[in-house]
Parts: sequence; structure tokens; C-alpha cells
Amino acid sequence: MKTSGGSDATKRRAGESAAEAVTDGDVVGLGTGSTAAHAIRRLGDRVDGGLDVRGVPTSFASRELAAEEAVPCLDLPEAVGPDGPGIDLAIDGADQVATGSEESDSPVPGGALIKGGGAAHAREKLVDAAADRFLVVADPSKESPRLDRSVPVEALPAGRTAVAAAVREAGGEA
Ligand code: A5P
Repeated sequence: MKTSGGSDATKRRAGESAAEAVTDGDVVGLGTGSTAAHAIRRLGDRVDGGLDVRGVPTSFASRELAAEEAVPCLDLPEAVGPDGPGIDLAIDGADQVATGSEESDSPVPGGALIKGGGAAHAREKLVDAAADRFLVVADPSKESPRLDRSVPVEALPAGRTAVAAAVREAGGEA
């Protein structure tokens, strides 16, 4: 799993506390990154203890980890298809979380996020958007008065030139 700074102990606390929000029978979006991995491992412990849960992985890495932890998984189309159970809760990490400090000149409100640095951008968005609830797991190293990290963008290979042009047009550096 990819990691983007912060201490493992604080990530573990964040991830494990998110796993405690899962209730029996839930279908849970399984995020990507080192913090979300702690949530998946804790879910594995809870499955061991009898919790009935099914995961919907956002990446190959989260699917592999869920398999190692014996967390049963559904594909996204199965979960959200016409006969699917839906997704009760998605748990995922973040690259940066705006604290919305008054000292900041950023118009971005507290709680705004930069996500997708773990390279699972599009699948994360699909899973997280389909969920009834979205729980972001972030340790204090992710907090910042303003969002000032690079914004991950995922593009189809054939679309990369057009996407790069659109990023530049929006004032960014592709
Ligand atoms: C996934 O694409 C990302 O948003 C990750 O959740 C994010 O990069 C956090 O990663 P860590 O939990 O490894 O810091």
C-alpha cells in the first residue's frame, strides 16, 4: 500500500476507529492507502470475531489486503446493480484535509479534501459516491489551513493531452 507521510501509530488509530463505525450486515467501501489499510485489518479482526460484512475494494491493493484478512468482497457492479445491496459506508483516506483556519486566506472550507494520491482516484470516487455514508480517515499530519498539495487527476491514456490542456486552462500545471 502506498503511504504519504504521517506516523503509523496515528494512522492506525484513525483507521481502526473508522472500522468501529461498521455495523453487522454492512457493505463497506474499502479505501486505498496506509490509513485505510488499518481500517481493513481491523475489519478483518472483527470478521474473525463474527461480524457479517462485505467489502467493496477501491483498488487491487485493497482487494488483496481484504483477501488476506478474510473480509468477503463484492465488485462494485454487484454491490450497486439493480439486485445489489448497495454500499452502506465507504471508508477512505485523504492526501490533505483543510482545517479552515481563520488565519488562512484560502476560500476552501474546513473539511475540504485532496484525495486520490494513492493512484486509485477514479475507483475511489465511484465507490465513495455510491455509498450512503463516507467516512474519511486522516491523521493529524494531513491537516492544513489551506489545500496546497498537488491535486491528483486520473485520465484515460488516450485523453492525456486533452486533460493536460484542460488543467493548464484551469490555471494548473499538468
Ligand atoms: C487514495 O487514493 C488516497 O487518497 C489515499 O487515501 C491517500 O493518499 C492517503 O494515503 P495514506 O493513508 O497512505 O497516507
